[in-house]
Amino acid sequence: MKYFIANWKANKNLAEADAWINLFLKLINKNTKINKLLKTDQIKIVICPPFPFINLIKKGIVRKKNVHVGAQDLSFFPSGSYTGEVTARSLSGLVDYVILGHSERRKYFKEDEMKLADKVRLALDYQIKPIFCIRDTKDAIPDQINITAYEPVWAIGTGKNEPLTDVLKVKKNLHLKPKKVFIYGGSVNAKNCSQYLVSEQINGFLIGSASLDPLVFFEIINQTR
Ligand code: PGA
Repeated sequence: MKYFIANWKANKNLAEADAWINLFLKLINKNTKINKLLKTDQIKIVICPPFPFINLIKKGIVRKKNVHVGAQDLSFFPSGSYTGEVTARSLSGLVDYVILGHSERRKYFKEDEMKLADKVRLALDYQIKPIFCIRDTKDAIPDQINITAYEPVWAIGTGKNEPLTDVLKVKKNLHLKPKKVFIYGGSVNAKNCSQYLVSEQINGFLIGSASLDPLVFFEIINQTR
């Protein structure tokens, strides 16, 4: 199973999100190979838009096997008087996945291990699967995590992806249990994705910039053998 996770970050407005999902669905619906890969559990697509567009994407992908919507974050508060926060409870039933521990959240919003542990616990309490991002082997991975996304900071949004051999060295040093999912993120695009796709060791991608254009995101998925 290969994961293709689109992280739109803080991009797009309502009209753009609508156009994205319409075009993306058209592209995958008419592609026999991708439909077969989805139906046979060989690939999984997770679209993580900003909060306001979650419902729109969810409605678009309804009943499409192995196509999911995810959130880019959730609150470390369970619920209550925290104006502006979006909790796991509010997201439950809406999203299947949530990105947690992204280096941008660690950097700009000072998310530390303790806050992240709370977020992981809340996500799991509400049946939302965390996609847990680490910057390197020093970032702790909570025990309950099944999907780890390794994203070296220098590779994010720079156009410089980390070569497969180096990614595999990092994976080895993480000593993940055999059934855990390990994905790579950091300047993945349609030109460099194939080297990772052929590796049994890499279970997919977390894709930022290259997921903003549905044609490019589709082109990456379409390189699955
Ligand atoms: P990028 O972002 O693909 O633009 O490098 C990846 C990420 O930050 O998840």
